[in-house]
Amino acid sequence: MKSVLITGASGFIGSFLVEEGLKQGFQVFAGIRKSSSREYLQDPRIQFIEFDFSTKAKVLETLENCKAKNIRFNYIVHNAGLTKVKKKEDFYNVNCRNTIHFIEALIEAGMVPDKFLYVSSLAAYGPGHPDTGEPVRLTHEPKPIELYGKSKLEAERYITARKEFPWLIVRPTGVYGPKEKDYFVFFQTINRGMEPYIGFRKQTLTFIYVRDLVRMIFMALASPHVNKSWFVSDGKEYPSELFAGITKKALGKKTIRFTVPLFLVKSIAIIGENVAGLWGSIPTLNTDKYNVLKSTNWRCEFEPLEKELGFKAEYDLEKGVQETLEWYKKEKWL
Ligand SMILES: NC(=O)c1ccc[n+]([C@@H]2O[C@H](COP(=O)([O-])OP(=O)(O)OC[C@H]3O[C@@H](n4cnc5c(N)ncnc54)[C@H](OP(=O)(O)O)[C@@H]3O)[C@@H](O)[C@H]2O)c1
Repeated sequence: MKSVLITGASGFIGSFLVEEGLKQGFQVFAGIRKSSSREYLQDPRIQFIEFDFSTKAKVLETLENCKAKNIRFNYIVHNAGLTKVKKKEDFYNVNCRNTIHFIEALIEAGMVPDKFLYVSSLAAYGPGHPDTGEPVRLTHEPKPIELYGKSKLEAERYITARKEFPWLIVRPTGVYGPKEKDYFVFFQTINRGMEPYIGFRKQTLTFIYVRDLVRMIFMALASPHVNKSWFVSDGKEYPSELFAGITKKALGKKTIRFTVPLFLVKSIAIIGENVAGLWGSIPTLNTDKYNVLKSTNWRCEFEPLEKELGFKAEYDLEKGVQETLEWYKKEKWL
């Protein structure tokens, strides 16, 4: 039986990775923190390992303990990461520095797996060109527009410089599905009868349903590929009105549509950042978030996934949103 270690197992994507690993017959190790919730990790087959990635020495100690118990990982999916932070430096510390500690400790402990897959993000490359509408491609120069993307790119640069290390990188676009908390706010807003837009320029969005993403990740692990990276989407593109339209249809709601001008969003972001900055924190709507919200082209290439892995999404947005909303309703989130 092959083994897989999934870090960030307690989170949204992590818990689906664990589920998929078990479904495919892997021995699954869930990498969590002491403080992590185990709410979505109830399967008795899951074996837990507590990691503290803040120093290489701490990771090394955990790996040495694993070795002493004869635990080896065929595959590692390093999915632990931060998409939102209270302090700006946390992006770099968690997404990049911790990844470096992890890889250095794996090498030092002699526990390099057959494949180490890093869950990066489309944000590491930033949006596509607003005028040409061309999708972001591997051949393009990465141009992240916020600290989150920059921290992911920095981790990628460290990883890809290690030619002797068996890495894979995936860069998902927006991931949605049951348990997810950010798109949920949008679904909630539509459910309350409001349909907000930011800025007057048309936005094109891309998505990947969480079950398709985790299936794709396991396809990459099982494939002969190594030292390769892919953008991950369902292969379609969606104008923002269509996202709202699909949600409205699935919820059976009528909405009041309104547009918040960009200058207003920017002003709120700047003021909020200055005020929150007095306490050393950053608000949810900040200038980084503003840069993301105002970008109009979130297309990314899909062909390499199809050609190199034979991946085809089973869920388009309509099917995925339907299943997601059913889950939110069942769990009384909506
Ligand atoms: N959601 C998306 O749309 C999206 C898109 C592209 C890429 N990604 C990437 O996918 C990964 C998972 O994201 P998600 O959406 O599932 O987020 P999530 O639900 O917030 O899960 C994040 C996971 O990372 C763990 N983590 C955070 N800080 C950590 C630290 N200092 N040490 C160890 N573990 C830590 C969390 O553990 P606790 O439970 O203990 O906090 C949690 O298990 C991230 O790397 C993210 O950048 C997400």
